[in-house]
Amino acid sequence: MLVLGLETSCDETGVALYDSERGLLADALFSQIDLHRVYGGVVPELASRDHVKRMLPLIRQVLAEADCVATDIDAIAYTAGPGLVGALLVGASCAQALAFAWGIPALGVHHMEGHLLAPMLEEQPPEFPFVALLVSGGHTQLVRVDGIGRYELLGESLDDAAGEAFDKTAKLIGLPYPGGPEIARLAAQGVPGRFVFPRPMTDRPGLQFSFSGLKTFALNTWQQCRDAGDDSEQTRCDISLAFQQAVVETLTIKCRRALQQTGLKRLVIAGGVSANKALRASLEDMTAGLKGNVFYARPKFCTDNGAMIAYAGCQRLAAGQQESLAISVQARWPMETLQAI
Ligand code: KG4
Ligand code: ZN
Repeated sequence: MLVLGLETSCDETGVALYDSERGLLADALFSQIDLHRVYGGVVPELASRDHVKRMLPLIRQVLAEADCVATDIDAIAYTAGPGLVGALLVGASCAQALAFAWGIPALGVHHMEGHLLAPMLEEQPPEFPFVALLVSGGHTQLVRVDGIGRYELLGESLDDAAGEAFDKTAKLIGLPYPGGPEIARLAAQGVPGRFVFPRPMTDRPGLQFSFSGLKTFALNTWQQCRDAGDDSEQTRCDISLAFQQAVVETLTIKCRRALQQTGLKRLVIAGGVSANKALRASLEDMTAGLKGNVFYARPKFCTDNGAMIAYAGCQRLAAGQQESLAISVQARWPMETLQAI
């Protein structure tokens, strides 16, 4: 079964072709980062309009790369939520219109399920069951995963998501959007130990997170330095490192707890923040200590992409899942409500 995947939940137009027998045939992405950077964050209306412009050329591009024609496609999977509602509607209406024209089914996919399953596109995919740490711009969740659609939420952030904390902290210290990769880049030049940030909620039991205090801590640190006449690049690097270490250690402590609590040995990390090298290294060390393993996608499939949507959609379509031609998307959508297959 050849599935066309469309991702338009935020500021990236992602398109891919995944075949149930041959695997991933082609993927293409247009990132709107340059469009939103001047505003310091994503402008939803601009995002929607740009998805409209990019979608059909990207579909043509993946068809050409995969050496396929439209009539080879058996079904279309698109992101139906969670995300920016206008942006989601572009992907949903495009998918449903093409599906109607081509006489094939379309299926709405949960964006976070897409992220969660992205490591399945790698050479050594994880086997079920596992614990998943989902860390993106909108979500920080620990989930027990027993199969596709068999999700038990173990813990989540009570306020900012990990990616959101990276983005907001970056903005406060004068770094461009998106802040995650910028902080990671500056942290590599940081002096360890100059600043030490708290590890929120690690001193009490449970698997909840809270990241909003860290950005305030970063802002206060930055202001104190500036008041003392130091607004150097090195100070930005040192704050970036202290912030990143705090997030990484906090996530690592909670992942260890989740593995111990569930008795599972496999940990999957997914979502934009799972591209962070320091996080990967820390979780590698921690899982090795527990004689377990950590799984993640290649960097371009950690952030938003069409391949993860094509893959997740293919699994559900192959299991017989169907939907009507109605165009319906959800800005908020708890993953635990998904149907098991
Ligand atoms: O999964 P994603 O592409 O979009 C959402 O579903 O939200 O995640 C985007 C988030 C942004 O907050 C971005 O700053 C963060 O992932 N991110 C990173 C890195 N690359 C992207 N955070 C830390 N380190 C990175 N290398
Ligand atoms: Zn995402």
